Amino acid sequence: MKVLLLNGPNLNMLGKREPEVYGSRTLADIVTDLRQIASQNGITLSDVQSNAEHELIDAIHQAHENIDFIIINPAAYTHTSVAIRDALLSVAIPYIEVHLSNVHAREPFRHHSYLADKAVGVICGLGEQGYEFALYAAKKHLQQQK
Ligand code: DQA
Repeated sequence: MKVLLLNGPNLNMLGKREPEVYGSRTLADIVTDLRQIASQNGITLSDVQSNAEHELIDAIHQAHENIDFIIINPAAYTHTSVAIRDALLSVAIPYIEVHLSNVHAREPFRHHSYLADKAVGVICGLGEQGYEFALYAAKKHLQQQK
């Protein structure tokens, strides 16, 4: 079972960036813990963080070769990117959208997602635990497909 974790722009700044909104742990801290949880659950986790839309799109295209499921926090591209939506649809890999913060309790421009209606599910507002829950849900989703 191979899962790709994608994190969009400014998530490399976790730990420093608005800690009252996003918490004090770095992305490296979060990914290290997730890798452990993944391996305990028979999942191979790869991860890409990029501040560039085209790099996220390229990673989605490459995932076509061997990835069973994508967990994506598209960050600000959630609210702007038809291109990332189209990339996900072009590879037809099931995905869960994750946000650390509760985007619905924030500015109105964060309430709309270009990805959410095609996702298996959306998790927001639960901090880094959201990624963990997404891993469990990905595992269950893939097991049910067999
Ligand atoms: C975010 C929410 C987005 O609105 C914001 O642009 C981010 C992070 C989150 O994880 O809460 O960069 O995706």
